[in-house]
Amino acid sequence: MDYFEYKDDELYCEDVPVSKIVRKTKTPVYIYSYRTLERHYRVFNDAFKEIPHTVCYSCKANSNIAILKVMGRFGGGADIVSQGELYRALKAKIPPNKIVFSGVGKTKDEIKAAIAAKILMINIESEAELHMIADIGSTMKVTVPVSIRVNPQIDPKTHPYITTGLKKNKFGIVWEDALKLYREIKGMEYLSPIGISSHIGSQILELSPFIEAVRSLKKMAESLSEMGINVKYLDLGGGLGITYNDELPPHPDEYAKVIGKELKNTGLHIILEPGRVLVGNSGILVTRLLYVKTSPGKVFYIVDGAMNDLIRPSLYGAYHQIIPVQKKNGKDGFVKVDVVGPVCESGDFFAKDREMPVVKAGALLAIKGSGAYGFSMSSNYNSRRRVPEVLVRGKEFFVIKKRETFKDLIKGESIPYFLEAD
Ligand code: LLP
Repeated sequence: MDYFEYKDDELYCEDVPVSKIVRKTKTPVYIYSYRTLERHYRVFNDAFKEIPHTVCYSCKANSNIAILKVMGRFGGGADIVSQGELYRALKAKIPPNKIVFSGVGKTKDEIKAAIAAKILMINIESEAELHMIADIGSTMKVTVPVSIRVNPQIDPKTHPYITTGLKKNKFGIVWEDALKLYREIKGMEYLSPIGISSHIGSQILELSPFIEAVRSLKKMAESLSEMGINVKYLDLGGGLGITYNDELPPHPDEYAKVIGKELKNTGLHIILEPGRVLVGNSGILVTRLLYVKTSPGKVFYIVDGAMNDLIRPSLYGAYHQIIPVQKKNGKDGFVKVDVVGPVCESGDFFAKDREMPVVKAGALLAIKGSGAYGFSMSSNYNSRRRVPEVLVRGKEFFVIKKRETFKDLIKGESIPYFLEAD
């Protein structure tokens, strides 16, 4: 359920016509719905109301500080993977004791900054990192709260899909090694093992991998308890999928129910790191059709948005619904098209061989499901300025990020003196 709907054949975001926003911002533009964000957050958070938990929104999905502020407003924390995301989360006044730090390659400076900010915990992803954090803690004379990110041990016969991920994955630490490291941490003055964490993947559409993972983490908590380590937190990561086309992901209630069933009476506090499920369907990318180009056997809708603005179709072959902002009702028929952008790459497309309503140059198209991993993965490739972002709330709309200027494009660049003379 989202708040992008047609009223009188005109696409609205909440109570604002999309075309009205475009008149102000031009295209391409990302538009997010506050009410959808609120609804998604509440549905997700309420699903876990029976279990002690913290929702640490995964900033990488959409890290605009206004979006982070929305999450913080509803009580959310943050899952960060870099000092940049730490900076953003703190700017948005996310309480540090609701921030968790994952990532396989945290630098010394990033670890120091996280410790100085007094975040809830750092999720350790390797033995070498463990020692690095312990050294930094010792220098700073701070006992650092940590968890180990575990690759859940799942029977290969029952879940080969996940096990493949387990073996080839650069993330986390396998079960036996994790136990060994927890034992080591126990004797360390500057590390405090307060949790166990995991993240098994993204856009997951079934419950069974989550059940397997949570069982595995629970077993780990029990083993640790036998070793005299009583962790408080189980960080289950993110990964719950959404509907882009016809997928049927589990409802957060079902997800919470199976987790609750596994963890009842354990006294463990759950940390969840949802990204996509909170913001994915809260955003659209609006682009304008520049040209309709026909070549033998092919029709192209060439639009002003491109892979640098939304890379998911190019990078993952991801499906995003594309709908006209002025509804066509099939009046002018349909045509099979490739929706492509102006970037000089054959991979620059939003859809291939897609049945679309016939529209004329100048029409506005909305690319749905673009709230997660849309703007946050955008770039300046082809020296295209990054696009504005707008947050709609009821009848009001706010530009929460301006379109970059040409000056922004060359910010920080300089010409060495020996070239200046030319
Ligand atoms: N926690 C950790 C440690 C993660 O690595 C991720 C996502 C999340 C939480 C949030 O996962 P979510 O709830 O959003 O599935 N760019 C890709 C998705 C990459 C996900 C990376 N990690 C895409 O556009 O589909």
